[in-house]
Amino acid sequence: MVRGGTGPAKMCDVKLLNLDHVAIAVRDLDQAVDSYRQRYGVEPLYREVVESQGVEEAMIPVGGSFIQFLEPLGDDTPVGKFLARHGEGLHHVAYAVADIEAALTHLKSVGARLIDETPRIGGRGARIAFVHPADAAGTLVELVELET
Ligand code: CO
Repeated sequence: MVRGGTGPAKMCDVKLLNLDHVAIAVRDLDQAVDSYRQRYGVEPLYREVVESQGVEEAMIPVGGSFIQFLEPLGDDTPVGKFLARHGEGLHHVAYAVADIEAALTHLKSVGARLIDETPRIGGRGARIAFVHPADAAGTLVELVELET
């Protein structure tokens, strides 16, 4: 028997438009970028310091999505602490949404634990919000509403 889920789809205001990026925490951004250039022949499209998140990030396009490398600006930043605990590796996945406020309201209504109750500005000037990994099989989720 094939089971299609837990029941009929509920009204949901979270419209996932795309897998925007997969973020990987690294100790050395230059080395990570060089490694991907050498192995996969790809180049970053953006590279920027995002002070509010305590990271320097590089965004490497892959199809319609990105690989995002994150290097912490210090040990006492969220990504710095992540590296100390887990080492390098998968940090979060990010989904593009049409309306981030509607998405956050919906997530709250279904009991998701939000790290950001209201959107803040992330890389590329996008409005972003993080959803706690405890609600998503241990995976930190970022919602991204890109400027149109
Ligand atoms: Co991200």
